[in-house]
Amino acid sequence: MLNIAVLISGSGSNLQRLIDECKNNNINGNIKLVISNKENVYGLQRAKEENIKNLYINDEEDIKNELKKENIDLIVLAGFLKILSKDFIKEYKNKIINIHPSLIPSFCGKGYYGMKVHEAVIKKGVKISGATVHFVNEIADEGPIIMQKTVEVDINDSKESVAKKVLEVEHEILPYVVKQFCEGNIIINEDERVDIIG
Ligand code: GRF
Repeated sequence: MLNIAVLISGSGSNLQRLIDECKNNNINGNIKLVISNKENVYGLQRAKEENIKNLYINDEEDIKNELKKENIDLIVLAGFLKILSKDFIKEYKNKIINIHPSLIPSFCGKGYYGMKVHEAVIKKGVKISGATVHFVNEIADEGPIIMQKTVEVDINDSKESVAKKVLEVEHEILPYVVKQFCEGNIIINEDERVDIIG
């Protein structure tokens, strides 16, 4: 059973989905650690309620020490807003996954996070948006894409209604990818494209 760490910066609704799916044994993984780089966020409370080790840490070295202490096999960034260093990412190559609230490569990279993503989606007038789960590499939101799911955007949508639709698909695809990762079903081929064989 893999040891999982979830890094957050906010409410932790994605974290909660992972907790629930591990508790019902749909994910063959053990969330050993929740770290937030922001103090007093609800996501830490969610971990506390499940008796999962939960820490407010902002220093990357301290984060690394905790990951080593818990023998972490998979790091999930679920609304984690701190940029990790190249060294950190190299040390955990293809063991860090991130959920982004758009269809990468659209509306991603510097400045595209949270509601700013959905604001840009509405402004641009795209007809579909969605969420992406990807491996984290040295360039923000550029790592190999693992899974995406779309939502429709229509003329009556607002950034808030798009955010709500996208969060729903995030809550579907992130637990699915973590489940597949824990079962060894995620393959990255030689040209850095990902296949889920489960
Ligand atoms: C989600 O929209 C996710 O796509 C983005 O940050 C938000 C996290 O929400 N990276 P939550 O903290 O999991 O509720």
